[in-house]
Amino acid sequence: MSRKLVIWGCGGHGREVNHLCEQIGREVVGFLDERPHMKGSLVDGLPVVGNLVDIESFRAEVLVFCGGVGDPALKRHFLERTLAAGFELAPALVHPGVYLSKRSEIGIGSMVSEGCILTVNVHVGAHVTLNRGVNLGHDVTVGDFATLSPGVVVSGNVEVGAGAYLGTGCAVREKLTIGPWSVVGGGAFVAKDVRARTLVAGVPAEFKKEI
Ligand SMILES: CC(C)(COP(=O)(O)OP(=O)(O)OC[C@H]1O[C@@H](n2cnc3c(N)ncnc32)[C@H](O)[C@@H]1OP(=O)(O)O)[C@@H](O)C(=O)NCCC(=O)NCCS
Repeated sequence: MSRKLVIWGCGGHGREVNHLCEQIGREVVGFLDERPHMKGSLVDGLPVVGNLVDIESFRAEVLVFCGGVGDPALKRHFLERTLAAGFELAPALVHPGVYLSKRSEIGIGSMVSEGCILTVNVHVGAHVTLNRGVNLGHDVTVGDFATLSPGVVVSGNVEVGAGAYLGTGCAVREKLTIGPWSVVGGGAFVAKDVRARTLVAGVPAEFKKEI
């Protein structure tokens, strides 16, 4: 039988992960949250169990999902905490209403929400968030910890770097690179490469600032 999950993050995104788990039949025992005042509260009927030390006694029974937040840096932080404490990681969570070709792959701890389309030879790393209706064309790679918000469309042969954050409804032209830990504003059209750790936004997307 599948082990139960605990989800890092109990805000809107963590609740969406829990909802996805309900839809795919994965049992969730509760949420992890580092904020002491959240411990003991109920979120969507599930307890906020606290920190990893608070679930030490049942570590063998659970798998930890680090992607209950949208912020890529926070996902990496939760992963580091989880590995340091020796907990095992949850597998990728993929909604049944996702189109995934047999030539595509998804890494551990990633989340692929309802309505996503991943065509041929798409490689999605670990702890990646593909929110509702994300569309990835042929030969796209998405690096670890990246977050693609609802309705993002990525054309063929694009490389999305680790930790990149693509805002709602943005689109990326083919054969481009989105640098690691960069941010694309919601609604943007990316027509040229994006350097690492920069924010671009607008149509066409222009450099706004270093991050
Ligand atoms: C990009 C974003 C994250 C803001 O980041 P930020 O670091 O707070 O950026 P700022 O507000 O300082 O904006 C910097 C510049 O970019 C512009 N900008 C920011 N987002 C923009 C957007 N989506 N479209 C056009 N311009 C945008 C700002 O107007 C500002 O321009 P200026 O310097 O000419 O005045 C936010 O605007 C955004 O697009 N978020 C997407 C949210 C989302 O997709 N959520 C999904 C939840 S599931």
